[in-house]
Amino acid sequence: MTRFARSVDALQSSAVRELMKAASNPDMISFSGGMPNPGLFPVEELDEIITKLPLRSKQDGFQYGPTPGYPPLLESLSAYLRSKGLPVEDNGLIVTAGSLQAIHLVTKVFVDPGDAVVTETPCFVGAIPVFRYFQARLRGVPLDADGPALSDLERALEEEKPRLLYLTPYFHNPAGIVYSAERKAAVMNLLKGRGIPLLEDDAYGELYFDEADRPLTLPMKASADPSIPICYTGSFSKIFGPGMRLGWLLGPRDVTAKCELAKQGVDACSSTYTQVLADAFLRGGYLPAYLERLRQAYARRCRIMTDALKALMPEGVKWNAPKGGFYLWLRLPPAMNATALLEIAAAAGAVFVVGRAFDPEGRRDDCLRLSFSHTPEDRIADGVRILAESMARLAGKNRR
Ligand SMILES: Cc1ncc(COP(=O)(O)O)c(C=O)c1O
Repeated sequence: MTRFARSVDALQSSAVRELMKAASNPDMISFSGGMPNPGLFPVEELDEIITKLPLRSKQDGFQYGPTPGYPPLLESLSAYLRSKGLPVEDNGLIVTAGSLQAIHLVTKVFVDPGDAVVTETPCFVGAIPVFRYFQARLRGVPLDADGPALSDLERALEEEKPRLLYLTPYFHNPAGIVYSAERKAAVMNLLKGRGIPLLEDDAYGELYFDEADRPLTLPMKASADPSIPICYTGSFSKIFGPGMRLGWLLGPRDVTAKCELAKQGVDACSSTYTQVLADAFLRGGYLPAYLERLRQAYARRCRIMTDALKALMPEGVKWNAPKGGFYLWLRLPPAMNATALLEIAAAAGAVFVVGRAFDPEGRRDDCLRLSFSHTPEDRIADGVRILAESMARLAGKNRR
């Protein structure tokens, strides 16, 4: 048998990656991956950008670049982050290969094998293998409609003395919630004086459905007490395209300096070519109109899915009403198991991600995530109907 390093021994293929394979079957109605619909990508803007690109930028794009990022993008990204109220001047900034790489780098510089990482339950499924790779002990804190349950969070911080707290306060993947302003303030209060680094993951903050909800997306990093080390990560994936593989990390300078050293040994620099395109996208002023288009499209998709759920779901199934992002989180009636349901639904032509995939402790399987971002609009209701029929079939089996 091949002998592998301890760091990769416990790794399993992420449930989402496996399901993406099923989602590529064109007949399957997939609510599984957190991907934008290809029809929503800014391809016309991109054509215009590429046509207008000066020779020098094209040549830059094919060259290696500095590890922290392509300097013009660092400048335009700084202006964008400043406009969101973030303290760019007092922090270091690195362009990463997607925000997943930022999660990886931050974990790498803080976590030794056996250290604790506290996350939410449910937690972004892509972050769990990162924490496992660094052999962290994972402790989940349950989420309610406003954010992490405070007494559980306090207990976890005290009992585990974690080396990292990982939170996703904006249009949570998978729970669909946005933290209330009060809960964010209470979390900050709990962190005061403990020296525990917070990794604040903001991949979806721009994708609110209603302008009135925008204030809820003010990052904790923006209002931070400087004594709380906050590493803030964001991404071009949901506001430009995930194929660009570009994200960023804004954090205390000593942290980003270490992350930069770690990144040198991973990929030397993020793709310069896509950084050139992202810079032109920001400088060309394309982002605000594009975001408006996205917000309307995702709000409409969420409405279609919510209407179908209201019409078709059996008694006892509960879900949240997202104010933004890509996801609906369904709670099943007590006797129903999400993995058993997936087996029936997949055979009938619809897939989703089971709740257990998002549980850092791998236990709860009474929930599931439905993504409304990628499925063609005219198939959303059909997919929900398959789910409802599968639930009826599973309930019938359970009764027998
Ligand atoms: C909460 C969250 N964080 C981070 C990421 C990683 O995105 P990327 O690496 O494409 O920037 C995702 C992707 O789905 C996500 O949902």
